[in-house]
Amino acid sequence: MKVLVAGGTGYIGSHICVELLQANHDVVVIDDFSNSKPEVLKYIKEITGKDVKFYEFNILDEKKTEEVFKENDLDAVIHCAAFKAVGESVEKPIEYYTNNLTTTLIVAKMMKKYHVNNIVFSSSATVYGDPEVVPLTEDCKLGETTNPYGASKAMMERILTDVQHACPEMSVTLLRYFNPIGAHESGLLGEDPKGIPNNLMPYIMKVAAGELPCLGVFGDDYDTPDGTGVRDYIHVVDLAKGHVLAIEKYNKPGLHICNLGTGRGYSVLELVHAFERVNGVKVKYEIKPRRAGDIATCYADPTRAKEELGWVATKGIDDMCRDTWNFAKTRMK
Ligand code: UD1
Repeated sequence: MKVLVAGGTGYIGSHICVELLQANHDVVVIDDFSNSKPEVLKYIKEITGKDVKFYEFNILDEKKTEEVFKENDLDAVIHCAAFKAVGESVEKPIEYYTNNLTTTLIVAKMMKKYHVNNIVFSSSATVYGDPEVVPLTEDCKLGETTNPYGASKAMMERILTDVQHACPEMSVTLLRYFNPIGAHESGLLGEDPKGIPNNLMPYIMKVAAGELPCLGVFGDDYDTPDGTGVRDYIHVVDLAKGHVLAIEKYNKPGLHICNLGTGRGYSVLELVHAFERVNGVKVKYEIKPRRAGDIATCYADPTRAKEELGWVATKGIDDMCRDTWNFAKTRMK
């Protein structure tokens, strides 16, 4: 298939490009490097021996987006071009809603116009809000989102769901990611946020690397075994493989919703200690107050992914920790 990866040089998008190329798909990428670097294209080539066809611009530029649809006979779109920093979204709701919603509308419009009938959308477990029960199945009801980023994900899901209803020939897949971490085993691709990271694993990585002095653990009084928050961490390469299966197996008209998680939760301190053990490094931390908007526990029921896609997470917490540190060391060279 010829697949457009919108946001294909980002953390998740770049791993998706690698897996698509290795599965012999052709890949077209649009990215504006707003949260990624041009070198990523070189690394994708180094890992796979193949090039993607690359366009540099923001999808908000509808004319340029249309050119890409005109020039390429696309079979499918994987849409992971979005702003994703929770804290920043609270400060800049207008920018977040404009970017995330408008790009989704433009992609959907072009798909309709050029008869591209298969889209896989990067959604998030954030759409479930504070879970009433865990593990979360796709049938759990959607919850209150606590920030504009999360709300934009829920709205993008809604937009694409409505588009599918209006265009029944379309396959719309909403992949709800749990907490993607880790890096490509080559050490070439990974998550390297600019400035102070919002998310746990990049923060751990920077403390271990000596770039930040100490990790703040946000709360140790949750109703969890050790009091710290529990999440379903999933290796980014497993996540990327899930996308390849989704464009192949859900390539039939309908709305498809699927969790991508391992089904196993780890606490903040379990992750910190696994990182220290696997990599032989020290991660200094101190307990801080809870972070606003955080929930105690969130993990997936991944049964549907197994049944419908034949997908299961193959990499565990040790792989996630090892590959993250390998990436950190490669990038420090
Ligand atoms: C967050 C977002 C979610 C988004 C996801 C991926 C919120 C409420 N949710 O998920 O919408 O899809 O990132 O971008 O922000 N933690 C610390 N210290 C830190 C950072 C995190 O203790 O410096 C803890 C958190 O309290 C949480 C766990 O680590 O218990 C995971 O946090 P994080 O990596 O930010 O992911 P989520 O909050 O689960």
